[in-house]
Amino acid sequence: MRVAVFIIIAATALSLGARAELTEAQRNTIAFEALSRLHHVNLDTDPELKSAVYRLLEKVRGTDKFLEIVKDFHLHDCDPGLLEVAVKAPSSETGVEAMRLVLTHNAADLVRNKLNGPDAKVARGVAEALGNATEQKAVAPLLAVAVDANRDTALRKICVRGLARTAEGADALLGAAKKGTLAEDLKYTASTELNGVRWTKIKAEAAQVLPLPTARGAQPLPPTVELLKMPADPANGEKVFYRQQPGCFACHTVRGKGGQVGPDLSEIGTKLAREAIVESILEPSAGISVGYETYSLDLKSGDEAYGLLVSDSADEIVIKDSKGIVTHYKKSEVINKRKLKLSLMPTGLQQGMSAQEFADLIAFLAGLKKQ
Ligand code: HEC
Repeated sequence: MRVAVFIIIAATALSLGARAELTEAQRNTIAFEALSRLHHVNLDTDPELKSAVYRLLEKVRGTDKFLEIVKDFHLHDCDPGLLEVAVKAPSSETGVEAMRLVLTHNAADLVRNKLNGPDAKVARGVAEALGNATEQKAVAPLLAVAVDANRDTALRKICVRGLARTAEGADALLGAAKKGTLAEDLKYTASTELNGVRWTKIKAEAAQVLPLPTARGAQPLPPTVELLKMPADPANGEKVFYRQQPGCFACHTVRGKGGQVGPDLSEIGTKLAREAIVESILEPSAGISVGYETYSLDLKSGDEAYGLLVSDSADEIVIKDSKGIVTHYKKSEVINKRKLKLSLMPTGLQQGMSAQEFADLIAFLAGLKKQ
């Protein structure tokens, strides 16, 4: 009886005409709420509900509601729609989850078609979401594009960055560099990515095969004492902080602006002496801030999750990765959880700066005091 009521609510909400006093969005929300209470019902035995579900899916294409419905009803024929969700927000929790769901459906052909299709925006979104999925299944499609010199550079760079996010991908990328199949225009990206990975063997090999470019870091940094004596310009240090390389702002917030992966640095000049600020950049793992310990999960799928522990409850473990993407892992998916002695903050960031820029950055951070 209850089921029938919800079906009627859902169907009515969907079909209310233009006369209705509700907006389209409100009607969809009502239908969504009604349907989300029905997910234990088998759609195959209930054609009316099935048609309501698929009609609502059409209306919420590309949104997180689409993903919710597909998950609730365990639908296996919605991969094109899931990819739309992924393309729309490839670095969001929803987009990445949608991509992971597609990967569990073994939809390799569909993924490859979108990557190779004529729409550059779609191809880039798919590539980015694949990289963010950090799964072994993403390696083959990403590598195929990365080594195809006919594809546009921006797309191939996304693939390179995505590959460097798993051990298997990083290894494949290194292999391509060794074989000489990695085009010249990708070497800078591949080199910065692979020299910053956490797998020591790959990192050591990368230093040989794809040494870091010496443009900015031509001269090694002077010892900290010398560095701190250099005249420094905090205003320029602020610019360095917000620059793509070294990328501090992607993880840290200063006065309300920036990412949420590492601690807020708005008062770091009060918390740490200048020497300690230098050390926390040169050797992030030497003193990991409380609450920012890194964890690694071995998953039954053979993949590895890596990042900060958001929560660990009876039925799930929640991890935030280095891009700030949060994933909920069911306990049943996890083989074990390990706390690492490694900071999520990468080493070698100083290589994206000159010694002067580094000194400026320290002056900027040291000046961030409690007001
Ligand atoms: C991938 C994300 C990421 C990037 C990029 C990053 N950090 Fe961090 N940072 C973290 C995390 C996570 C921590 C906390 C763990 C730790 O202490 O190592 C941290 C810690 C710190 C700390 C110590 C904070 C404290 O309260 O003790 C400082 C200072 C810092 N980072 C500065 C920087 C600067 C400057 C840059 C750019 C050159 C940078 N970080 C780039 C993630 C990042």
